[in-house]
Amino acid sequence: MSNNNNPESGQSSLRARKRVCIITFGCQMNEADSELIGASFRKRGFEITDSLKAADAVVVNTCTVRQRAEDKAISQIGRLRKWKLARPNGRLFVVGCAAQKLGEKHLKNRFPFVDEVFGAKSIDSVDALVETHFGKSADGPETAGIFRSPVSAFVTVMRGCSLKCSYCIVPAVRGEAAYLKPEDILAEAKARIAGGAKEIVLLGQTVNSYSYKAPGGGLFFTELLSQAAGLPGLHRLRFMSPHPIYFTDDFFRVFRDNPKIARHIHLPVQSGSDKLLKAMRRGYTRARYLEIVAKIRAAAPEAAVSTDLIVGYPGETEADFRDSLSLVAESGVSFAYCFKYSRRTDEPGLAPDLDEKEIELRLDRLLEAVKKNSAGILNSRIGRIEDVLLEAEDFGRTSANFVVKPESGAGLEPGTLVRMEITGVVRNALKGRLIRS
Ligand code: 5AD
Ligand code: SF4
Repeated sequence: MSNNNNPESGQSSLRARKRVCIITFGCQMNEADSELIGASFRKRGFEITDSLKAADAVVVNTCTVRQRAEDKAISQIGRLRKWKLARPNGRLFVVGCAAQKLGEKHLKNRFPFVDEVFGAKSIDSVDALVETHFGKSADGPETAGIFRSPVSAFVTVMRGCSLKCSYCIVPAVRGEAAYLKPEDILAEAKARIAGGAKEIVLLGQTVNSYSYKAPGGGLFFTELLSQAAGLPGLHRLRFMSPHPIYFTDDFFRVFRDNPKIARHIHLPVQSGSDKLLKAMRRGYTRARYLEIVAKIRAAAPEAAVSTDLIVGYPGETEADFRDSLSLVAESGVSFAYCFKYSRRTDEPGLAPDLDEKEIELRLDRLLEAVKKNSAGILNSRIGRIEDVLLEAEDFGRTSANFVVKPESGAGLEPGTLVRMEITGVVRNALKGRLIRS
């Protein structure tokens, strides 16, 4: 995926294959959608390119989770004016969450050179859209695996979200939760393993809410997890992102008994203050969050938990903020993505009410706390023997999702699982020495 290419003028030279450049903003769901879009183009003989200059078609897959993400996508579209001017036959598609929010009318008025606007809710019809421009595809379905490391593949299990967290625009732009059929999910996972993936990441906005009802019996997240973990040829299974309200005792049992399920859970908490968790309509308390973290560690003591936190939510006092600061240390999270609150709706009471400078200061304090905490956790891994799944010769991950840089990469094959002794910490990664068996 390309983010920083300059559209340069000049039509590409005569050549047999057309090329598409897909620019992706936002989360893993968007990355997974871009894979689908890319597969749709590839079925029609397109090559994927990073170069706008070489592209016959450009897709901008937008995000709107925070205003900044939307602004970035919008400026990218603006920069494509030159690209389109130089290629009147080039096709420019704007898709994804910001496309859903802003709508076709608004975007085409503002950017008349855009050919198609296609919101996140319509992702299932993307193939039909590509067909209207580039014709029917010759071959059968082509599974993705275009942008991400070939070793690790995203597999979507659900779309949308049915929760109503006060700050979040995702349910509005992606719609209510809809669960894919277990057969289709497992078939996709198998296809990706057959294509060389050694790790599968099951994706959904509230992935552990997964449930599929069918005549004669349904299936819940835990069973899906067990079945996926049992697929032959798979080294590791991850899932992202679970929500605290959907954890069951069954889950902890399956997690404990199945070491193929990665020892890392990204579990967004958003705030350490009960008052704010309630205002955010998160459906759990600080104590319940910490209880879940404790259960994860009881099931797998070596497991890492990471999180998301929002700073500057309306009504956040210094005391509320300190509750978030203390939660970082108390929960022992290995990492936290920290975001400044961004207003996404006109709902009364959701306007930011803190001074921007104060929010910046709190964000800095929080980032500092996270950094200190992460450094301690990374250092505590020194001396351990870890199974490292290599994504490249010089880079792999432990089951707990720590990046490991081998001291010497000679002869290491991406996709293999190697044993390493953790010998040190370099910036945000671990250093490892290969243990030859
Ligand atoms: N403002 C700031 N952060 C937000 N997130 C979602 N909505 C907002 C918002 N309006 C963050 C949450 C979520 C992550 C994907 O983005 O922390 O977990
Ligand atoms: Fe992903 Fe949410 Fe951004 Fe949409 S709005 S791309 S679902 S992070």
